Amino acid sequence: MNIFGINTNQAKTIDSNFAYLDQNKYFYFDSACQTLRPQVVIQSEQDYYQEYNACGHRVKYEWGKTVDSLTDETRELLLKAVNKTSKEYTVAFCLNTTHGINTILHQLNPNLYDRIVTSEIEHNSVFLNALTWSKRNNKKRIVCSRHEDGGLEYKKEDLSKAVVLVNETSNIDGRRLTNINELAKDVHNVGGIILLDGAQTFGHDIHFLKDIDFDAILGSGHKMYGPSIGFIIVKKSLLKNLDNYLIGGGTVENVRYNDFDLVSNDDELYARIEAGLQNFAGIIGLGSAIKWKSDFRYGSLNATEYEQELKTYLLQELLKIKSINLLSLNPSSVVSIYSNKIDAHKLGALLSTKQIMCRTGYFCCHYYLKELKQLPPLLRISLGLNNTKEQIDFLVENLDFIISKF
Ligand SMILES: Cc1ncc(COP(=O)(O)O)c(C=O)c1O
Repeated sequence: MNIFGINTNQAKTIDSNFAYLDQNKYFYFDSACQTLRPQVVIQSEQDYYQEYNACGHRVKYEWGKTVDSLTDETRELLLKAVNKTSKEYTVAFCLNTTHGINTILHQLNPNLYDRIVTSEIEHNSVFLNALTWSKRNNKKRIVCSRHEDGGLEYKKEDLSKAVVLVNETSNIDGRRLTNINELAKDVHNVGGIILLDGAQTFGHDIHFLKDIDFDAILGSGHKMYGPSIGFIIVKKSLLKNLDNYLIGGGTVENVRYNDFDLVSNDDELYARIEAGLQNFAGIIGLGSAIKWKSDFRYGSLNATEYEQELKTYLLQELLKIKSINLLSLNPSSVVSIYSNKIDAHKLGALLSTKQIMCRTGYFCCHYYLKELKQLPPLLRISLGLNNTKEQIDFLVENLDFIISKF
């Protein structure tokens, strides 16, 4: 047992991780939206409700102390995952990545920045916020292209005092921000900051993030085997400079008739952006999800290796189907396709009759997919650690069969 009450021996095989679901009956391929939750994660949330259902960072009785120690542990696990120290960074919780982006971006002091730089392949959470930030603050917005390998195609002069807001991993085709290191250095050299949409990042391999000097990264627990919750890993220096207006609850330490002081204790700066009571079961469940993923083994493979095997296999098998177009030919945990023979929504509905669950449409990337590329609705297959090669076989077999009928 570890601090989360997880029996780490349990987290060994796919069957015991997702034992509540018959893997021969349900074929879930929508992990880019939300992953399935391993049994231990569900259990740790339930433990909170049944064994120490207290508020964190406010109460002094024993249940509250347990909550404090477990929520602190989740913060530490997140910092450790990206190799950051609590001297420089802190972790705040929120609803989801979208909420995290809103919380940081719209509370930036606009006087410190001249422009916002984003990219065309962004999720609406980024695209729309970059748009509204630039309009509300009357600042220039630069929308860059992304190279096929995911790198941002920017001009150095565009980064001057810029807020760079881009995804680290695309939810269309899994492209990653390959020039992230260089980008972070370039933007810092000219007085800007880099905010990363990490929604699709944390469920996958994140080892290279460890050397990146980002100002903030936002993520979603529900896309990394955790509960529905968001988090913000942010530099304390940035947090201290926010123009806070989303306030209340525990964000302050003194309140006067006409005035107040935000939390100033360096160890609790995250409280400045955690307005109101938090989802403590979710925070604790997220900690157990992080532990679960690092303990994950499928035979001798760890999570990254197993996922690599699955995505290579998926691509290899999809390429055998004649009448589909793939948006990318790189192996990825997120693969978007369309067929000229059948509408993607119809295809998704027919797959669903076999309990094969795939996403259809534009995946909240309307600007890039619909407006810019003028693509028809797509079908997206996204893999998770619950999937197996046998499940991929079943999916591909059915895809091929359905398409061949049109
Ligand atoms: C790349 C990307 N960014 C942001 C989001 C928004 O995440 P959430 O809905 O958890 O806020 C998503 C969700 O799919 C995403 O894929």
